[in-house]
Amino acid sequence: MKITKICCIGAGYVGGPTMAVIAQKCPHIQVTVVDLNEQRIKDWNDPNTDNIPIYEPGLSEIVAEARDRNLFFSTEVEKAIDEAQVIFISVNTPTKTYGKGKGMAADLKYIELCARQIAKVAKQNKIVVEKSTLPVRTAEAIKSILDNTGNGVQFQILSNPEFLAEGTAVTDLLNPDRILIGGDTTPEGQNAINALVDVYANWVEKDKILTTNVWSSELSKLTANAFLAQRISSINAMSELCEKTGADVTEVARAIGMDSRIGSKFLKASVGFGGSCFQKDILNLVYIAKSYGLNEVADYWEQVIIMNDHQKRRFSNKIVQTLYNTVADKKITFLGWAFKKDTNDTRESAAIYVADDLINEQAKISVYDPKVSRNKMLSDLDYLQTRSNEENSNSLAIFDNAYEACKGSHAIAVLTEWDEFTTYDWKKIYDSMHKPAFLFDGRNILNAKEVEAIGFIYKGIGS
Ligand code: UDX
Ligand code: ADP
Repeated sequence: MKITKICCIGAGYVGGPTMAVIAQKCPHIQVTVVDLNEQRIKDWNDPNTDNIPIYEPGLSEIVAEARDRNLFFSTEVEKAIDEAQVIFISVNTPTKTYGKGKGMAADLKYIELCARQIAKVAKQNKIVVEKSTLPVRTAEAIKSILDNTGNGVQFQILSNPEFLAEGTAVTDLLNPDRILIGGDTTPEGQNAINALVDVYANWVEKDKILTTNVWSSELSKLTANAFLAQRISSINAMSELCEKTGADVTEVARAIGMDSRIGSKFLKASVGFGGSCFQKDILNLVYIAKSYGLNEVADYWEQVIIMNDHQKRRFSNKIVQTLYNTVADKKITFLGWAFKKDTNDTRESAAIYVADDLINEQAKISVYDPKVSRNKMLSDLDYLQTRSNEENSNSLAIFDNAYEACKGSHAIAVLTEWDEFTTYDWKKIYDSMHKPAFLFDGRNILNAKEVEAIGFIYKGIGS
């Protein structure tokens, strides 16, 4: 089968960039991205592509090139499903906040809704592709809904997990380490796999396109994220030991990273990992392991999350302790709110939890982030439901300029590694602050010696 029409349900951080790149690289394929959220679709269609709802370096240019040529954003979900041969499901699968598996299992209500919608609309055979990260054997549930509620047409379910990291989504999509496609071992399943392979082969070398059975593909995605997160928790665990022993975690990371068996990537100690995937996927893995009675496996992976929570709490505790055990009414400035640089995504960002802890200690937080909106920051805090929305907005002052945000503050905490922070006139910032002026570098991006020479009391992670 030659694919000429693709529909993607969900115009978020995964669906948007992925479809933009497919459309750019496959001008012969019509790609329609649909979402229930009208505002989101309106923003994707903004005549000025700098205003699209997702910030990713290079994305606005790709959208400008492909949009209205073969890339479309629409709220007409059913029409797009009806027309497409292939339907990607890229809706969110957050951790459940209610009922069985609360706080651990993935909430599949959006996935189920998609499956039901596809079943209702489809009048011809379709390939349905799981793009969102899903618990192992979700494909089974999707298939059951499709087969039992559909109009008798044939569905092939493929798992094609997305490995892009936010902030580098466009380069990751253009030059992926690998593409993974899982499908049924039947001839029909293999045909569906081959059809999707042909789409990616427009720009990805064939030997980088791996095909597996559906369950291996689903589990590989969870495994990849669990392994990556585990590296961060491992180096973060060492960072605490470094602080006690006089070792420097950056030096340790460099020394072990040169071991080719270990490798140098993902060894940056930090205030803790955030993002929409790591925590959610590991909790998911833990939940699945527990549900099979594999308690040791579950405990093993859960420790990665426990360590990450500890690292965030340790950072806020350090701020309080260093500021003479009280931050009440002190102004503390956060540089960065996003969970990493080059994205406006804040899901599970360490900044949210550190702010929450410090507000509990009655600190006044000022924030500057180059890409995150004021409403987003406030709604992130409100979501924790620690205190009233009014109290949150009284405790959080949001600035669109870092120098203003730092003026008169007792301490600065770097929560995101935005490049621009390293280019600041730190002497000027120091002069505008309350003394002694403290600098807590949650990302180890500043030169400790240089800022100490200015007069800052500097505390990084793991030294
Ligand atoms: C991750 C995976 O990398 C990606 O393959 C998957 O598809 C989705 O989840 P993402 O969450 O976008 O991507 O970002 P990533 O670069 O992995 O960073 C996650 C968090 O870990 C960030 O908060 C980052 O700052 C932190 N991190 C990363 C560290 O603290 N230290 C490191 O060495 C690397
Ligand atoms: P991700 O990081 O996984 O892409 P996002 O939250 O950024 O997650 O994007 C998921 C998108 O999916 C949201 O814009 C949401 O409105 C959309 N969505 C969820 N359920 C449906 C559905 N049934 N039909 C269409 N869009 C949906």
